[in-house]
Amino acid sequence: GRRLTILGIETSCDDTGVAILDSDGRILGESLFSQQELHSDFGGIIPPLARDLHLENIQKASDSALENANMTLGDVDAIAVTNRPGLPLSLLVGLNHAKKLAVSAQKPLIPIHHMEAHAFTVRMVEKVEFPFLVLLISGGHSLLAIAQDVSKFLLLGSTFDDAPGEAFDKATRRLKLRNLEEFTGMSGGQAMETAASRGDPSAFPIAEPLLHNKDCNFSFAGIKNSARSFIIQEEEKHGIEGDEVLPNVSDLCASMQLAITKHLCRRVGRAMEFVNRNNLLPDDRRSLVVSGGVACNGYIGRAMHFVGSRCGYKVYIPPRHLCTDNGVMIAWNAVEKWKANLDIHPYNALGSIDIE
Ligand code: KG4
Ligand code: ZN
Repeated sequence: GRRLTILGIETSCDDTGVAILDSDGRILGESLFSQQELHSDFGGIIPPLARDLHLENIQKASDSALENANMTLGDVDAIAVTNRPGLPLSLLVGLNHAKKLAVSAQKPLIPIHHMEAHAFTVRMVEKVEFPFLVLLISGGHSLLAIAQDVSKFLLLGSTFDDAPGEAFDKATRRLKLRNLEEFTGMSGGQAMETAASRGDPSAFPIAEPLLHNKDCNFSFAGIKNSARSFIIQEEEKHGIEGDEVLPNVSDLCASMQLAITKHLCRRVGRAMEFVNRNNLLPDDRRSLVVSGGVACNGYIGRAMHFVGSRCGYKVYIPPRHLCTDNGVMIAWNAVEKWKANLDIHPYNALGSIDIE
């Protein structure tokens, strides 16, 4: 049929993202305001501050995405917005804005699940058919699931405590990595990966968690705490004060990245064995999709390809700009829903849509 155009809005956490996408997966216009640097000055996300920044940027973001695409609101077929899961204050800004746009332009609204959107972005650029195994790793989540179709997921495991991106972000802050000019403006994980690439991963023995746990759940709090203890120990040893950065910071980063990678590999390997044993995926077409911000990590990506090759899986990782939070992934999920005729709410019946 005719090509669709969707305006997608993402405000679930600390990125204000809007994108105009067509049903062939072409990005017609895009706008993204990141709050990352501001929050990292405070040592974490402050929800009311995040809301205020979304409020300040949301109109600009949707105006400039439309302008980018050389379109007006009248030209799009539907509005899509993340309404779950996320920070309630942040989600509400996006949802209210989306409702306003939908009503003013008399367009349908499609509410989107943030993690489902992460799971499907790869389908914009590669032919990955349902069902597939998916590992979602970000600053707020860590989970393994089988994506059975556009609206059906079988959850195999999730984190007992922190998410891997959170562990990277906390350690980066603790290490004061971004005081070094080279790392300013990078996300915690990106700074870690860059520093780790020149470090010795065997320098600090950070234990792999849940070794005897016979399921597919995750835990990153132990790794985070163990890294913190080593950082404190090294800071004392080297007499580090104030804004100074440890001389062996790359060794700490490499050791932490290795511990996180081993844990991810072990759990994914378990999930693959379980799936294979129970024939949960067609055995001639087993696929693993890795997505979410932490999937930008090249070291983790290479490890996933290795585990995949051992268990008979083809591994798919979307390009970096599709792994992290943005409006594109929300618009794409709406394209998938539109094609399946799911969750399309007419502009005059938006009362039932709320954050979850
Ligand atoms: O998906 P995302 O943009 O937001 C959430 O939904 O959380 O993921 C952001 C997370 C941050 O914790 C960031 O440090 C991490 O993704 N990240 C990385 C890398 N790039 C971003 N983690 C590891 N290695 C990277 N290269
Ligand atoms: Zn995300």
